[in-house]
Amino acid sequence: MAETKRHDELQGEIVHEYDGIEEADNALPLWWLAIFYGAIVFGIGYYFFYEGYKVEPVGRAAYDQEMAAQAAAAPEVTAEQLVALGEDDVAVAAGRAVFAANCVACHDQEAQGKIGPNLTDAYWIHGGSAMDIHHTIEQGYSAKGMPAWGASLGADAVNQAVAYVLSIRGTNVEGKEAQGELYAPEGVTTEAQEPSPSGEPVVDAGADASATGEPTADESALAEPATDVEDSTVESAETPTSE
Ligand code: HEC
Repeated sequence: MAETKRHDELQGEIVHEYDGIEEADNALPLWWLAIFYGAIVFGIGYYFFYEGYKVEPVGRAAYDQEMAAQAAAAPEVTAEQLVALGEDDVAVAAGRAVFAANCVACHDQEAQGKIGPNLTDAYWIHGGSAMDIHHTIEQGYSAKGMPAWGASLGADAVNQAVAYVLSIRGTNVEGKEAQGELYAPEGVTTEAQEPSPSGEPVVDAGADASATGEPTADESALAEPATDVEDSTVESAETPTSE
């Protein structure tokens, strides 16, 4: 192959030419060399920092460490905290804003229900306790059309949304028909637990033993604590009872 060397105006001396493709040999620009040698120096430093001496964890170890730190920083919310938030005007107002921004499309303006169920009635598909509602909002029931909000809203906004739902729970806004099971909120005494008209304490509405004769000493002793335990559905799991 005949090499016809020529001098190019822009590229300078052409040292090779193959099939019309020309190669010149000029000094590389300084900025290019700086990046090139800089990358080599950085690479060596990086290797010793992360792999050689393991000053900081990388990859899976870094991920695990971060997750552990996050889990420690955000402790599980308790029913007591949620119930307290439901009585806190600031949290409820914040929850109303979260609701207006994210939930009205399906549950409607007053939470009276549209695509999603009415959240103001006493009937709940997935349970009406503070922890049930928290679980529903955080984890969702995506197969049934209720999205999970934990990841997109974050723990605080989820808790505020729970506070708002707790504050409107049982307000019975006219709307979508009731769905699910009747739920008696924490602390509300149901008919069955109230003393019968005769003044006899009714331990268990279903059991006919106490309805017939005088309550035995054992039964009267049971009557009080039994009522307490049944009142505080979810809370009873957290707060130690006399039992
Ligand atoms: C895309 C529509 C949609 C959006 C948006 C939505 N929901 Fe729902 N939601 C539903 C549906 C559908 C259900 C019923 C699921 C079922 O039948 O199991 C539901 C159920 C619920 C329940 C349980 C009701 C019960 O009876 O147990 C709560 C609480 C709830 N949503 C709260 C919220 C909150 C708070 C938001 C906003 C952060 C929200 N939802 C946003 C569709 C939606």
